[in-house]
Amino acid sequence: MSKIWVIGGSGQLGNEFQVIAKSDKTNEFHFSDLPEFNLLNEKDISKALNDIQPDTVINAAAYTAVDQAEAEPEKAYAINATAVGKLAELCAKKKIFLIHISTDFVFDGKRSKPYHEDCSACPNGTYAASKHKGEIEVLLNTKHAAIVRTSWLYGNFGHNFMKTIQEKGSNGNELKVVVDQCGTPTWSYDLAEVCLKLTAKRQEIKGVELFHYSNEGVATWYDFAWEILSLTGEKPNILPVSSNEFPRPAPRPAYSVMDKTKIKNFLGIRIPHWKESLNNCITKQKKKK
Ligand SMILES: NC(=O)c1ccc[n+]([C@@H]2O[C@H](COP(=O)([O-])OP(=O)(O)OC[C@H]3O[C@@H](n4cnc5c(N)ncnc54)[C@H](OP(=O)(O)O)[C@@H]3O)[C@@H](O)[C@H]2O)c1
Repeated sequence: MSKIWVIGGSGQLGNEFQVIAKSDKTNEFHFSDLPEFNLLNEKDISKALNDIQPDTVINAAAYTAVDQAEAEPEKAYAINATAVGKLAELCAKKKIFLIHISTDFVFDGKRSKPYHEDCSACPNGTYAASKHKGEIEVLLNTKHAAIVRTSWLYGNFGHNFMKTIQEKGSNGNELKVVVDQCGTPTWSYDLAEVCLKLTAKRQEIKGVELFHYSNEGVATWYDFAWEILSLTGEKPNILPVSSNEFPRPAPRPAYSVMDKTKIKNFLGIRIPHWKESLNNCITKQKKKK
């Protein structure tokens, strides 16, 4: 039994914990998000820690507007780095285990084989750099935490690539999708479940551990879009294009596949392939309609 406080409870990942909380009989969940709770406000954090008295805090809150971050770096760093440091410090004072979510974007994408936890981070762009700084803040400010890097998150809540493709690619509408970036999609529900498995094994985590977690397999955004439309029951009409044809304010890693051996061994889990999880996600979506 754990008492878990999820920050960013109304976001894409946060909502998955809300779904799980409805039927989870082993854990007690508390959720916070804007506007009632602001991670930038130290008093809000202290008050919630005192009121809830959690044994685990899961930080699913973040500044996630990757391109917009180039125009407002102060905001991105404040939420993704400075506030994370304060959260880690306050958790450490109360000996609370912290799970902090980070990103594959901490890598520059120049590798051609999966990144493991010991690979050097080399973030490009403000969002990526602010998330990397957040990891460092956790390392500096607490002695009991798990930093979980994930990639290409999608699911049935919030805004994400799956929903955009479903909206724009319906009825045979032609789409252009980049084919020269490789990574692994991750269903937000799978990530939430893995965070809860880490929570259950928190006593075995000594210090601050870094883990990579995504679904299995490798995809380009083009592959991902094709599979989304096929599983949704649409006929994909997608033109593969290069990233150069889609210039964006923030750079993206060309290759960000992560090696997940560490988390698989630690938790003793099998990770579903991205196509299997996408199928499960879309099946769930259809049932909701
Ligand atoms: N999405 C991806 O593809 C992806 C990939 C790799 C890693 N990640 C990481 O995974 C984690 C979860 O991502 P997500 O896609 O679930 O993000 P999301 O849907 O954008 O959710 C983030 C939540 O944090 C909230 N938030 C933002 N600023 C806050 C503040 N100052 N105080 C309290 N709450 C605040 C947001 O509220 P508002 O909506 O009101 O701003 C939102 O509810 C993040 O750490 C992200 O960096 C995401």
